[in-house]
Amino acid sequence: MEAILSVRNLNFYYGDNRALKDINMDIYKNNVTAFIGPSGCGKSTFLRTLNRMNDFIENVKVEGSIIYEGKDIYSKEMEPVELRRRIGMVFQKPNPFPKTIYENIVYGLRKNGVNKKEILDEVVEKTLKAVALYDEVKDKIYKSALELSGGQQQRLCIARAIAMQPDVVLMDEPTSALDPISTMKIEELVLELKKDYTIIIVTHSMQQAARISDYTAFFLNGEVIEYDETSKIFSNPRDKRTEDYITGRFG
Ligand SMILES: Nc1ncnc2c1ncn2[C@@H]1O[C@H](COP(=O)(O)OP(=O)(O)O)[C@@H](O)[C@H]1O
Ligand SMILES: [Mg+2]
Repeated sequence: MEAILSVRNLNFYYGDNRALKDINMDIYKNNVTAFIGPSGCGKSTFLRTLNRMNDFIENVKVEGSIIYEGKDIYSKEMEPVELRRRIGMVFQKPNPFPKTIYENIVYGLRKNGVNKKEILDEVVEKTLKAVALYDEVKDKIYKSALELSGGQQQRLCIARAIAMQPDVVLMDEPTSALDPISTMKIEELVLELKKDYTIIIVTHSMQQAARISDYTAFFLNGEVIEYDETSKIFSNPRDKRTEDYITGRFG
């Protein structure tokens, strides 16, 4: 199995608060990796360290390394904007721009100077098809993205992320604001997307982790308590705390 990201001895601080403690983890290519654990245990913080989204928060400190394509993403040679193009992100609340569906998808391309209509048209069609939204929106791609339902908006945000042809897509509780049908569609989409991308998903739903992930990491108080194949975590966890969590004894 090929590791696309290798996290070594990672510590993360908000001021004096050590929010991540000595994390070591290899993330495997073309797999879905789920992060589970009770609220406040560091899942989002860790996810954001993987594409340096924490750079935008003041008074934080990172120790350790995260190796991506042979380079430490925290080294001086790494260009954070390029890193975030390669490691894209989708958030809990769908956050389309107040622009047309079309302009949402091509936003990043335009920022990179790609403006040729034929190219953009092709990307829009291809990514809408990839997120199974094409049939639903093909007659209104020049209408505002804000007219879409929440579930459609979230699929559009995934389309916006993959239009940049990333290697990895980070998703932070992408279905927690959605109804069950929309959630199911996103789950099906994740399983489809892992053929082409590596997906890392934070979820508060253990059922969701069990349904869609290949690997699961269980976080508690900033530590990774257990990280293994999802089937192993849910059927035969090594750590008592993992077992207590997955059997619903806390969290
Ligand atoms: N922007 C921030 N500034 C300061 N502390 C933060 C910030 N974001 C998160 N934290 C703290 O870091 C810890 C982990 O939070 P978080 O990563 O959001 O957990 P989770 O996603 O598992 O709910 C919590 O104690 C939280 O209060
Ligand atoms: Mg979170």
